[in-house]
Amino acid sequence: MYKRKELKKISNTLDKEIINLINEQIWLENNASFYYLYLSTQFSMNGYSGISKFFLEQSNEEREHMLKLVEYLLDEDITPQIPNYNYLEDLEEKFNILSHFENSLMNEKRVSSSINDIVSKCKEKGDIKTENFMQWFVIEQREEENKFKSIIDDIKIIGDSGSGLYELNKQLGSVTEEE
Ligand code: FEO
Repeated sequence: MYKRKELKKISNTLDKEIINLINEQIWLENNASFYYLYLSTQFSMNGYSGISKFFLEQSNEEREHMLKLVEYLLDEDITPQIPNYNYLEDLEEKFNILSHFENSLMNEKRVSSSINDIVSKCKEKGDIKTENFMQWFVIEQREEENKFKSIIDDIKIIGDSGSGLYELNKQLGSVTEEE
């Protein structure tokens, strides 16, 4: 049987470094959400309603990722840091279909790398609970990266072909509707 003194030693509080990394991740997911919202508007303004829908859906997914992390901290009785700004104020990307998708892939790689940092820190600190929680993000990131890679491959094949871009726009718009 446990003595009262021994019970007192057990703390459910997460490690400070892990909390900081999760808060940084919240910022990154929020940032990704706004970035994809920006791209959604750019594609809409340039007549690609299907790709615009695709990026709107991406934006919503990123917001869900952010909320997942917020809820995790709240469940641990830790106050999450809600981002009160994003970097988009000074963002101006010239409209280019290929480079928008390539930048999106770079963005996903950045997110994957920070998720890996959290998992490594969890291993170092022996925080199995957070490590398990983060596994969902590890799998999600692999899917996201593969999705963008595959679209980039298609865009490279399509080149300047109007009918190819028409099909891609239609396809990405309908994938979003099916999901
Ligand atoms: Fe939630 Fe696509 O990173």
